[in-house]
Amino acid sequence: SEFQPPSTEIITLTRHVLAEQFRLGVAATGDLTLLLNAIQLTSKFIATNVRRARLINLVGLAGDTNVQGEEQKKLDVLSNDIMVNALRASGKTAVLVSEELDEAVIIEDRYKGKYCVVFDPLDGSSNIDAGVNIGTIFGVYQIRPESQGTIEDVLRPGSEMVAAGYTMYGSSANLVLSTGNGVNGYTLDASLGEFVLTHPDIKIPPRGKIYSFNEGNSLYFHTPTINYLNSIKYPTAGKSPYSARYIGSMVADVHRTLLYGGVFGYPDDKKSKKGKLRLLYEAFPMAFLTEQAGGTATTGTKRILDIVPTSIHERTGVYLGSRDDVEEVIKFYEAEA
Ligand code: AHG
Ligand code: MN
Ligand code: MN
Ligand code: MN
Repeated sequence: SEFQPPSTEIITLTRHVLAEQFRLGVAATGDLTLLLNAIQLTSKFIATNVRRARLINLVGLAGDTNVQGEEQKKLDVLSNDIMVNALRASGKTAVLVSEELDEAVIIEDRYKGKYCVVFDPLDGSSNIDAGVNIGTIFGVYQIRPESQGTIEDVLRPGSEMVAAGYTMYGSSANLVLSTGNGVNGYTLDASLGEFVLTHPDIKIPPRGKIYSFNEGNSLYFHTPTINYLNSIKYPTAGKSPYSARYIGSMVADVHRTLLYGGVFGYPDDKKSKKGKLRLLYEAFPMAFLTEQAGGTATTGTKRILDIVPTSIHERTGVYLGSRDDVEEVIKFYEAEA
């Protein structure tokens, strides 16, 4: 057979985002591209530290707790510092919100840009020390016209985000991104130091066969959650029950849901009255990606992207995934109402 030289068409994340802007004919200023470059850099830097964590004493606790009362791991703190540092230095940000910082960071004038970034620097903290997949989640707003960058610029519905994504640190580092025109996945090629397009135009299958919940919370679940789970575990004759997959890192559970379909749920319940997951930097970006991939994201009674946040660390119940599966969840809530 003939020798086939490797393709010279390497589509990096930066090239792909620029190509998308050319295609849409947006008067691209390059600002979003530069911001996304800064975000990519933080993911590469965090990925490197995740990979070496066990060798350089980066496992275990940092010694402090965050505003939500969680004990911070060393990697939570380091990843947060990496992101705040790079995003400020990019000159493209005005407001930063991090899971690990009590207050929003308002960027000083000389570095100020027009974007706000909300992020979960290290998602899946409980999995770090076991070497299980973890990630970073981010969402991007543009400051409102005339605004100098205040907390009001991020207390807006998720539907107003201009970009959202996550990076999963697993057997490879995968960055999944939407700028509002579908979802694309990129894999870090360590030899190039670049994220390369490997998953163009991700679409969630309209129905899946997997459910992903922490069923250890069953004692506290509300009736619609219990009834829904029963319906997929004990289906009517002729149908097969769903398989369970729960990693406990939202990034990894959502990544699988985007690729394979099914439903991921972390509902509010009798114990976690407002749910566990944080609206701004967990639920919104993942809901944005889910909808962009053709899926559905709901609290059970309300579209997640329509929620208007009132505080930066507020929580929400979450169900997201395949359209038909999540539609069934919603029916159980309607039956209860
Ligand atoms: P984080 O590590 O950023 O605090 O997020 C943890 C979240 C999320 O990753 C995951 O889906 C969920 O908590 C797991 O919660 P349980 O351990 O209660 O199942
Ligand atoms: Mn945490
Ligand atoms: Mn998280
Ligand atoms: Mn986190």
